[in-house]
Amino acid sequence: MPKLTIAIDGPAGSGKSSVARRVAALLEYSYLDSGAMYRALALKALERKVPLSDEGRLEALAKETQIELKPPIPELEVTGAKNRVFLDGREVTREIRVVEVGKAASRLAAIAAVRRVLVAEQQRCGSGGGIVMEGRDIGTVVFPAAELKIFLDASPEVRAERRWQEHQEKDERMTLAEVFDEVIERDKRDRERKVSPLVRAKDAVLVDNTAMDVEETARLIVLLAQEREKELTAATAKKG
Ligand code: CDP
Ligand code: CDP
Repeated sequence: MPKLTIAIDGPAGSGKSSVARRVAALLEYSYLDSGAMYRALALKALERKVPLSDEGRLEALAKETQIELKPPIPELEVTGAKNRVFLDGREVTREIRVVEVGKAASRLAAIAAVRRVLVAEQQRCGSGGGIVMEGRDIGTVVFPAAELKIFLDASPEVRAERRWQEHQEKDERMTLAEVFDEVIERDKRDRERKVSPLVRAKDAVLVDNTAMDVEETARLIVLLAQEREKELTAATAKKG
C-alpha cells in the first residue's frame, strides 16, 4: 500500500493533536505536531526577552534554533503531552504547554520570515510520506499536495470546554469564561493574519467533531485514508 501524507488543520481545541496521534498509531505512520515548533520558539523568545514585535530578531532566533520533535512516550501521553520537544537539546515538552507560551506562539506565527524557517523544517521531516502532520497551514502551505487533507472543527463552546478540562487536570486556575476568551482571541489571530492564515483548503474534508470523541474521529479519518490508499493503488496499477 502507498504511504500517504495526511494533513490535519483546525482551530485550537478541535482535537487535532489527540486525533492525529491516534490516526498515526492506527495506520503505523509517524506523527508531527507543527504547533510544538512555534511553541518551542516562543518559549525561547520569552526566556530571552526578545520582544514579540521584533521581527528581525525573531527571524534570526528561528534560524539559530534547533527544534527536534520525537515520538511521545506513554507516561507523558497521559499528561496530554504530544511529541516530545527538544529546544537546542533541552527537553521542553511540558514548559511549552502553558497558556502564555500558546499566546506568544500565535503572535510569533504571524511573522512570515519565522514561518519560512519552520515550514522548511516541517517539509524536511515529512518528505518521506507515511506521516500525519497537524497544525494550521499543513494542507494549504506545508504540504499542498498531501493525499488526504482534513479540516477538523468543533463548536467554540466545546473547544473551550475541552481546553478548560485540560487546565483543570494541570491545575491551571482559569475559569471557563477566561479559557473561552483566550481560545476565541487566538482563533481570530490565526484566521485573520496575512501570512498562511488558518483556512480550510479547497480539497480538505471538513470533519466537525463537536459530538464525536477522539476514537470515533480518528476511525473516520482512517477510513478516509484507506479509501485514498485504494484509489492511489488503483491509479498506479492502471498506469503500469
Ligand atoms: O490539538 P488541538 O488543540 O486541536 O486539540 P487537542 O489538544 O487534541 O484536544 C484538546 C482536548 O480535547 C484533549 O484533552 C482531547 O482529549 C479532547 N478531545 C475530546 O474530548 N474529543 C474530541 N473529539 C477531540 C478532543
Ligand atoms: O494545540 P493548540 O491548538 O493550542 O495550538 P498549537 O497547535 O500548539 O499551536 C500554537 C500556535 O502556533 C497556534 O495558535 C498558531 O498560531 C501557531 N501555529 C501555526 O501558525 N501554524 C501551524 N502549522 C501550527 C501552529
